[in-house]
Amino acid sequence: MTTPAYDFDTRLERSGTWSLKWEKYAGRDIIPMWVADMDFRSPPEVIAMLRSRVEHGVFGYIEPGPELAEAIIGRLQESYGWSPAPEHFVWLPGLVSGLNIVCRAIGEPGDDVLTGVPIYPPFLSAPVNAQRRCVHVPLLEDGGRWTFPAGALDEAVGERSRLFLLCNPHNPVGRVYDKRELEALAEVSLRRNLVICSDEIHCGLVLDEDKRHVPFASLSPEIAARTITLMAASKTFNLPGLGSAFAIIPDRTLRARVNAVMKGIVHRPMTVGLWATLAAYRDGEPWRRALVARLRDNRDLVAARVATWRGFRMSPVEGTYLAWLDLRETGRDRWIEAFEAGGVGLYDGADFGTPGFLRLNFACPKALLVEALDRMERVIRG
Ligand SMILES: Cc1ncc(COP(=O)(O)O)c(C=O)c1O
Repeated sequence: MTTPAYDFDTRLERSGTWSLKWEKYAGRDIIPMWVADMDFRSPPEVIAMLRSRVEHGVFGYIEPGPELAEAIIGRLQESYGWSPAPEHFVWLPGLVSGLNIVCRAIGEPGDDVLTGVPIYPPFLSAPVNAQRRCVHVPLLEDGGRWTFPAGALDEAVGERSRLFLLCNPHNPVGRVYDKRELEALAEVSLRRNLVICSDEIHCGLVLDEDKRHVPFASLSPEIAARTITLMAASKTFNLPGLGSAFAIIPDRTLRARVNAVMKGIVHRPMTVGLWATLAAYRDGEPWRRALVARLRDNRDLVAARVATWRGFRMSPVEGTYLAWLDLRETGRDRWIEAFEAGGVGLYDGADFGTPGFLRLNFACPKALLVEALDRMERVIRG
């Protein structure tokens, strides 16, 4: 199959569009590489779908038609050999909402919620928001490569542990967990009677050609029965401002608990978000493949530059568009401030539960990425 040409090179002006990423540094010459959205336009098929709905001009209440779940299931089947049933879907306005809802739906206040650290910050705050205790399970790092040791999960389980929040692919360490690693985590979850909430928002962004995303719920029927999978088109197709996501919950009792927490409080996703989701899953695959090839190039570019910076280490990014940089051996701290002063805005590892690290979002046109890396290098060379 030949890949159609898509434009991932044009530098888009995002200031004045209420962009969270760019407005943080409004009026300052700082290239923002912190929050996880991309400086690329969405696929033409998604934009065409939105344009046609806007032209229609009526934005009343909607109930998603069966073709939406069908398009998603078709893509999941083709990509992962996994076919959840349409009635397992629960529509959500976002995955952070999903994490917070699940933390309220499982167990009781005072119970433990476990998660592997470092981790995307809402995994740390959602249990606390729900009056649960967040138990940090440290990931293991060996030469910059991170793993999730099942033994550490097992050891962290206590009397009041009910829920395990998994992130796969893992933001920020870039791991795409393989089937064997996931099976080990599944074995602990079954034996210790944990419900698993598996955030798979980055699953369309597997960069290594020899890696494949494995949905946690696809491991076995027993695991599916205790897993709440959170997914969205938003990360892969750059739609996070359209507020649309979904949970897949095969077990009727778990689904009822989640729906009960949401009742009367959580609005169904916005119409435009659902239409964009349909177009993305149904028609967006050629664009996604082209995007992944570009992100792979960008990742390699960042890795090659970081390798020349003394004391800096970058973990292999198997998936996501986020580089996780270890700065502990530089012998300096306050790097965030130094890079901002030098014109690059990054995300502090302390927010992910591990000070001494930085997260860099490389999903932008190559010229902008090179400019940001040049600026960082000037700061490092002092
Ligand atoms: C692992 C993970 N979950 C959830 C989100 C955010 O999801 P949403 O924008 O749907 O709330 C992100 C955004 O970066 C993420 O990396």
